[in-house]
Amino acid sequence: MSDLPLPTPESVRECLRSVPYPGYSRDIISFGIVKDIAVAGGEVTVSIHLTSSNPDAPMRIKEDCEKALRSLPGVTRAEVRIEFNQQATRAVSTIQKPNAATQIEGVRHVIAVASGKGGVGKSTVAVNLTAALAELGLRTGLCDCDIYGPSVPLMLGTRDPVLPTNDDRILPVEISGIRLMSMALLMEETAAAVLRGPIVTRYTQEFLRRVVWGTLDALVLDLPPGTGDIQLTIAQTVELSGVILVTTPQEVALADVRRAAAMFEKVNAPILGLIENMSFFLCPDNGKRYPIFGEGGGAREARRLGVPLLAQVPIEMEVRAGGDRGKPIVFSHPASASALAFSEAAAFLRRTLDL
Ligand SMILES: Nc1ncnc2c1ncn2[C@@H]1O[C@H](COP(=O)(O)OP(=O)(O)OP(=O)(O)O)[C@@H](O)[C@H]1O
Ligand SMILES: [Mg+2]
Repeated sequence: MSDLPLPTPESVRECLRSVPYPGYSRDIISFGIVKDIAVAGGEVTVSIHLTSSNPDAPMRIKEDCEKALRSLPGVTRAEVRIEFNQQATRAVSTIQKPNAATQIEGVRHVIAVASGKGGVGKSTVAVNLTAALAELGLRTGLCDCDIYGPSVPLMLGTRDPVLPTNDDRILPVEISGIRLMSMALLMEETAAAVLRGPIVTRYTQEFLRRVVWGTLDALVLDLPPGTGDIQLTIAQTVELSGVILVTTPQEVALADVRRAAAMFEKVNAPILGLIENMSFFLCPDNGKRYPIFGEGGGAREARRLGVPLLAQVPIEMEVRAGGDRGKPIVFSHPASASALAFSEAAAFLRRTLDL
C-alpha cells in the first residue's frame, strides 16, 4: 500500500486554485464555478458548473483540472464533470471581446455594481460596499455612472463641485476616505434629461476617461438600471475586474438579473457574484425576520448562474435613513445586520481579487 497522504476536499480545493479560468488570470475557485468535491480514498470527483459562452472553456477547464489533480499526492483517479446552465448558455449567443476597453491608470480593480431591474438597491450596495472596502484600509473610489438618476452624492452627503485640472481632466471629491465622482456633480440637474442615445454614450465614455483617480486599490462603478447602451458602453470602455449583480428575492427581479448576467458575459466581464438586497425585513422591535419579497430567490439564482451569493442584506430602516442622510450604514451602524452583510461581501472581494 502507498504511504502517500490521501487527498482531502481542502487539498483538492487548494490544488484547483492553480487552474486559471481560460482567458483570465483568475483561478476557477475564485470564479466560484467549482460546485462539488468528492473524495473517496485516492479517487477524486469534481463537479464544475459553467455558464460560459466560450466554446473552448469546458474542455480546457476539464483537462487543466484533471492534470493538476493527478499531480496532487495520493490521487489515483481524477474525474472532472462539467455541468451546464442551459438557460444562461442559450441567452449568450456571441462573444465580443471588449476591444476598446482600457485599464484606468493607477486603479488596480474596477468593480461594476449592476442590476437588471431598477430600484433594487444598486446605489445603496455600491456606496456601502465601497465604504466597507475603505474600512478594510483599501484606497477606494466610487463612480456614479447614472446620468439620469445620480444618487450617490446624496447617499454620501456631499454637493461639493468637482474641480477641473489644467489639462481639462476632472478631479474627484474626497469624502470619508472615498474618492467620489458623479455625473450629478458635473451637470445641472435638468441637463441630463435632454441628452439622448448616442450623446449619452459619448458623454459616458468621455466621463470615464477624464477623471483623475490617482492610485486606487478598488474603484466601484454604480451603474444605472437595465441592460442598455450605457451599461454596454461602460463595459466596453473600462476593463472591469468583474461585476456584482444586485437583486431582490422576487421573481421579477431575478428574471432581470439573468438578462444582466447574459449581457456582461457577452462582453466577457466576469460576474463576481450576486448580492441579494431586501432579503427580509428585520423588525427592530422583536428582531424577527419577515421575508417580504419571498425567500431563497437570490441563492437559487446564484446557483443557476454558477456564481457565489456574496451577501443577503436585510431591509432595515437605518439603511434607507442613512442613504437619505448621507451616512452609509457601514459607517454609522457598523454592527448592524446590513453593515455586516456589506462587510462580508467586501471581505470576499478582497480575497478574490487579492486586494
Ligand atoms: N436594504 C435596504 N433596507 C432599506 N432600504 C433600502 C435597502 N436597500 C435600498 N433601500 C432604499 O431603497 C431605495 C432604492 O435604493 P437604491 O437607490 O439604492 O436603488 P437603485 O437600484 O440604485 O435604484 P435605481 O435603479 O433607480 O438606480 C432607496 O431609498 C434606498 O435607501
Ligand atoms: Mg441607483
